[in-house]
Amino acid sequence: MQERFAGTVRAIREVAATDAPPTDRLQEAMALIQQDHPHYEWVGVYILRDDALELGPFVGAPTEHTEIPIGRGVCGTAAATRANQIIGDVRKLDNYLACSATVRSEIVVLVWDREEIIGEIDADCDEVGAFTAADEKFLTVVAAILAPLVRAVQ
Ligand code: SME
Repeated sequence: MQERFAGTVRAIREVAATDAPPTDRLQEAMALIQQDHPHYEWVGVYILRDDALELGPFVGAPTEHTEIPIGRGVCGTAAATRANQIIGDVRKLDNYLACSATVRSEIVVLVWDREEIIGEIDADCDEVGAFTAADEKFLTVVAAILAPLVRAVQ
């Protein structure tokens, strides 16, 4: 993992280990990501409940997409295909749910509990191509740290 992400991972580990309510710990983790990495203009957690992704803690502008069926949009595609998504330019997608007209790039990294998908971390940026494989590696580590908290609020 790139050095620029290592400090954030340490901070998220510390937050995850506190005895604050799980929702508060998830919220703080999202805030830490955005604070350290400004290209995470919107970043939040979706929780998989009964075949739909329900929006959990997030930072950034409120979104109307608080419940996303499996298969719909970038988030639903990640869950349906069991694969993380990195979208360089969302204008090139047909199956896209716009949170804001200004968003250009998006990343979705799955949260796993062993073989089971229990949620996702989703991030948006107004710049084209903002997210790379380095972000995917970072968010994969974050997802593993946060998985017990996602399970706790599921
Ligand atoms: N763009 C996502 C919807 C969630 S918002 O970005 C917060 C999608 O296409 O699934």
